[in-house]
Amino acid sequence: MTVTYYTAVTLDGFLADENDSLDWLFHQEQDPNGPMNYAQFIDGVGAIVMGATTYQWLLDHDDNWPYEMPAWIVTHRAFPSTDHDIRFVQGDVATLWPDVAASAGEKDVWIVGGGDLAAQFAEAGHLDRMIVYIAPVTLGAGRPLFPRRFDFELVDVARNGNFVCAEYATTSRM
Ligand SMILES: NC(=O)c1ccc[n+]([C@@H]2O[C@H](COP(=O)([O-])OP(=O)(O)OC[C@H]3O[C@@H](n4cnc5c(N)ncnc54)[C@H](OP(=O)(O)O)[C@@H]3O)[C@@H](O)[C@H]2O)c1
Repeated sequence: MTVTYYTAVTLDGFLADENDSLDWLFHQEQDPNGPMNYAQFIDGVGAIVMGATTYQWLLDHDDNWPYEMPAWIVTHRAFPSTDHDIRFVQGDVATLWPDVAASAGEKDVWIVGGGDLAAQFAEAGHLDRMIVYIAPVTLGAGRPLFPRRFDFELVDVARNGNFVCAEYATTSRM
């Protein structure tokens, strides 16, 4: 099983602006069949994990829940109940990990974001790699990609449309 933080990011390291807007992202060109593409990635994913702000963003922007696999929402907030396979949890990700891993079956786990949640998984030893789609945009401020000190190893790099796509293996905490 591989645990991947797969995300788009600005050139200056933000997932979203200070108002959680992704407007900088959606007009960027990309080839859906190109390197490190989402369709190929999601095909191998058996469970996803995201923080409360990312989940709220999806509730606000997507009429339909886009995922079929179990989704773990890490939060202290009380969200409305849902018919989808969505599991609200909180606390230490090392404690949550066995249930998350089991829910993925033979497939992989996607840490959707945000950045601090991905870092919590890395610190717990449960983040294998990060794949970033780097857009040629700067925001100056916003929600950070990975707001803790960590060392990664560059594994692969490619171009997809306007994006530099890079895969990094998690190595160690700095
Ligand atoms: N560019 C992209 O492709 C991309 C990808 C992912 C996300 N995004 C966007 O980036 C932004 C990320 O927001 P964010 O940085 O605030 O991160 P987030 O992970 O979505 O949300 C952070 C919140 O999750 C809850 N949380 C995190 N860890 C927890 C834990 N261990 N136990 C309990 N609750 C925990 C806390 O909220 P509570 O305590 O209030 O519950 C925390 O404030 C969103 O706007 C999202 O839409 C963009």
